[in-house]
Amino acid sequence: MPEINLVGLTKKFGAFTAVHPSDLSAQNGEMLTLLGPSGCGKTTTLRMVAGLEQPTAGSIRIGARTIYDSSQDIDVPSENRGLGMVFQSYAIWPHMTVAENVAYPLRMRRVPKAQITEKVRDVLDLVGMAGFEEKSATKLSGGQQQRVALARALVFQPEILLLDEPLSNLDAKLREHMRFELRMMQQRVGLTALFVTHDQEEALTLSDRLVVMNQGRIEQIGTPEDIYERPATRFVAEFIGKGNMIEIASVDRAGGDARFDLPTFDSAVCIALPAKNVRGAGLQQNACLFIRPEKIMMGADGERGGQNAIHLPGRVSGRAYSGDHHEYLVAVNSQTSLKVKVAGGPRHEVDSKVTLAIPHSEMVLYA
Ligand SMILES: Nc1ncnc2c1ncn2[C@@H]1O[C@H](COP(=O)(O)OP(=O)(O)O)[C@@H](O)[C@H]1O
Ligand SMILES: [Mg+2]
Repeated sequence: MPEINLVGLTKKFGAFTAVHPSDLSAQNGEMLTLLGPSGCGKTTTLRMVAGLEQPTAGSIRIGARTIYDSSQDIDVPSENRGLGMVFQSYAIWPHMTVAENVAYPLRMRRVPKAQITEKVRDVLDLVGMAGFEEKSATKLSGGQQQRVALARALVFQPEILLLDEPLSNLDAKLREHMRFELRMMQQRVGLTALFVTHDQEEALTLSDRLVVMNQGRIEQIGTPEDIYERPATRFVAEFIGKGNMIEIASVDRAGGDARFDLPTFDSAVCIALPAKNVRGAGLQQNACLFIRPEKIMMGADGERGGQNAIHLPGRVSGRAYSGDHHEYLVAVNSQTSLKVKVAGGPRHEVDSKVTLAIPHSEMVLYA
């Protein structure tokens, strides 16, 4: 049985629809991440699950329990939904010690004192903050405050953890470190978690599955590999990673297959893609060809490498070295330059002529 199940969940603010009717479910023990640009409806979705925002329509189920259903007038109050929450601002109380902060949800639930001490100690141990009980909350670093917020969300052993950009206030290095800690802890406890972020790298490394949102709509749900390797829509392709998008004015369709010309400096290369590489049934005009920079192979002028690939003559117009790879900008016609990312091999100087090899399987045509 899915742990969290949203059906037709919708939120309007007056005439504006922040979340269009959306369906999604998180399995037991899964880390499911809502990812999308600012304003796409991630926080609103999470707040509806939390019971902090009333949906306009739809239902929310946790396990076998319906906690919200607009058609049945069910609306379980936030505090009875059994959720742990961590939000962007740590919101730990500055006038309290670490232990008092973490104990707060237990005191609210009238847990006996002896048990509180024990539970607080256990959960602080879990987040790597054992021994900090008596420290004043204001004396903690950002990362430590974040851990205390996490401990407070976990101390009453919620079934579900809701996290809204919990790492975004931390500096880059700490954020990366906490990312792994959070993931390990979630797996160790076996928590089902809904995680919200606008940071694609964070989403890709942390999640079992991702929900990519755009303007209040779900664009794609899938594993990090699905989303990165097989973006379902042009939006997902452009939002995740730094891909090449080449405008294609007209496309010949025969059956589901697509055939089009990509101009080169002195002629053109004809590209034929099978239906599985084409997104958009009636696609004929104003298409976009998508290619990831790391899927393009680069050789010396005239070198035709790669299996089942097209070959494009080009000229290196820019080059950047970033430690473990080179990034090139290669002009293939007077209007189009492609980003190419290569891990090793000989270095190509700016202005040198090269030949790019692009496997057919790595090209996708979007409407
Ligand atoms: N209380 C509110 N009243 C009116 N509009 C709101 C309210 N809360 C959010 N919105 C709007 O709903 C949209 C989605 O917001 P939000 O869920 O916070 O996006 P995200 O978390 O993805 O950045 C935005 O356009 C935002 O301005
Ligand atoms: Mg938000």
